[in-house]
Amino acid sequence: MPRVGLREIYSLGRVIANGQLLRYGRGPRGYTHRFETRLAEKTGAAHVLTVNSGTNALITALAAAGIGPGDEVLVPAYTWVASALAPLAVGAVPVLADVDESLTISPEDIERRITPYTKAIIPVHMLNLVCDMDRIMEIARRHNLLVIEDACQAVGIRYKDRHTGAIGHAGAFSFNHFKNITSGEGGAVLTSDERLYIRARMYHDPGSFIRGHEHSNEPLFAGMNFRVSELTGAVLHAQLTRLTPLVRRLQARRAVTAKAFEGLKNCRVSPHHDPDSAAGLCVIFDDPEQAESFAKARGVERLIDTGRHVYTNWEVLFAKRSFHPKMNPYAWASREVEYTTDMCQATLDILSRSCRISLGPGYPLAVVRARAQALRRQLLAQGAA
Ligand SMILES: Cc1ncc(COP(=O)(O)O)c(C=O)c1O
Repeated sequence: MPRVGLREIYSLGRVIANGQLLRYGRGPRGYTHRFETRLAEKTGAAHVLTVNSGTNALITALAAAGIGPGDEVLVPAYTWVASALAPLAVGAVPVLADVDESLTISPEDIERRITPYTKAIIPVHMLNLVCDMDRIMEIARRHNLLVIEDACQAVGIRYKDRHTGAIGHAGAFSFNHFKNITSGEGGAVLTSDERLYIRARMYHDPGSFIRGHEHSNEPLFAGMNFRVSELTGAVLHAQLTRLTPLVRRLQARRAVTAKAFEGLKNCRVSPHHDPDSAAGLCVIFDDPEQAESFAKARGVERLIDTGRHVYTNWEVLFAKRSFHPKMNPYAWASREVEYTTDMCQATLDILSRSCRISLGPGYPLAVVRARAQALRRQLLAQGAA
């Protein structure tokens, strides 16, 4: 099943024929604008702002939320490194928290790592798996923290009756090549907070002050250029039609694959915070060697072996260095924040025993079922009976 094709070619062709490559050129009739409106309707967020990457979506959301020097932001120790680096871009520092067996940030560890300087939490919905958002939002309310969801790896995924990215105060999507929908590179900020949206627009476009904030009392500030072109908007508008069918295929394949892991010794499906809408699958073993040997199968990956997704490989964070010494967020931090390779032991233990199973959304269900049975036979041969 092609991820991009005629629909994208058609939309791109219309933009090129029209000659208006600036996203604002055609106003509300432009593809980018229509993509934002449709994504907002789909997710339930009041506002969607397209930006040029998931990293910049996180940075824009943090800047819009007023996070800055002296603030601490809680980030899981298992995520793509960009989630941890985004706070540094606004002058704040990331504080790492363990994940639990759901492979998402542990609410217990969030509570343990909160300090008087904590301002925000970035829960990350890894691998289409969802965080325990009810508990995270409750903790955030109790401690007066902001929640910026990193839903870069979970575009279009539901948590109970809501959509990832539209549950916290703001959310970030990525549309890079590996994500559920793609424009090669791209991202979006989601929020239902009017002020946050206006500030996000200011931050993502240095020309925002000539683009109609006349109805807002929000004071202007200097921003970056994280805008997208109408070419990106055209591809995303076409991609959106593919999202719901993709998520349905993932859900169906997750269900048949998860079934194959029932009743095994030493191995079980990782706990999920909304099993009824699950669209991602990991399994957890009792010991790391079993996981390592299972990961030799095609389409299976042991999570500890996924490079820059594991905090021990974030040399760039451990260095605590910035592009200029006077722009170093650690110099402004409210306390000494240290990073050591053993600071999130529970995460390392869980990742060393967990494997991700690719669900093969492009394959027929029968093929996926047969593959799941083959994986089960492999586990039985490994002594999981
Ligand atoms: C969890 C997570 N957060 C943030 C990002 C950053 O997205 P982008 O590559 O679009 O900047 C990614 C991308 O891989 C990601 O997986």
